[in-house]
Amino acid sequence: MASFNTIAGCVLASALFAMVVGKVSNAVVHPQKLAKPAIAVTDDAPQAVANAPQALDKIGPKLASANIENGKTVFQRQCLTCHTADKGGANKVGPNQWNVLGRKKGDGSFAYSSAMTAKGGEWDYENLNEFLFKPNAYVRGTKMAYAGLAKEQDRADVIAYLRTLADNPKPLP
Ligand code: HEC
Repeated sequence: MASFNTIAGCVLASALFAMVVGKVSNAVVHPQKLAKPAIAVTDDAPQAVANAPQALDKIGPKLASANIENGKTVFQRQCLTCHTADKGGANKVGPNQWNVLGRKKGDGSFAYSSAMTAKGGEWDYENLNEFLFKPNAYVRGTKMAYAGLAKEQDRADVIAYLRTLADNPKPLP
């Protein structure tokens, strides 16, 4: 038979436990209010976000140690359905990729989208990085129906591989 002290002890302990649980669940259920909303909602926000330049790290410094073999594998799995990579290769759904570095964007040897032709400039390591990250964000309205290469290492590897598709590959940055 439990003594009065033991029973009293149990009651006290349960009361304490209930208090602690109460405090903890209060903290869990009633998180502190933020001073201001974490995401500011304004009318022009979606447009601003869509047009914001991607804050990508520079790919140049990663090219020297990039894995060209992996770049070739990624290309064969994800790009070859639309792009040939050999010298003088045919255009498919997309333009042949031989000599792509230094190519003028939308240079006329392929039926480029007007978005691509309007973009201007030449392909270099950094804008290839941005285009391959999210084609339709870099060239809004591009015909390249491809979501993009999310992994930076894959982009470095693919760009290092694209660089080799030339008689005289451009110097590394
Ligand atoms: C569904 C077909 C498709 C896939 C998949 C695809 N592309 Fe393209 N790509 C295109 C088309 C079409 C264009 C032309 C875009 C335009 O005119 O707006 C293009 C354009 C390009 C360009 C612009 C430079 C030029 O003139 O060739 C590069 C670079 C490129 N693709 C690389 C890649 C790489 C690398 C991959 C794989 C990671 C890839 N593409 C996957 C269809 C594709």
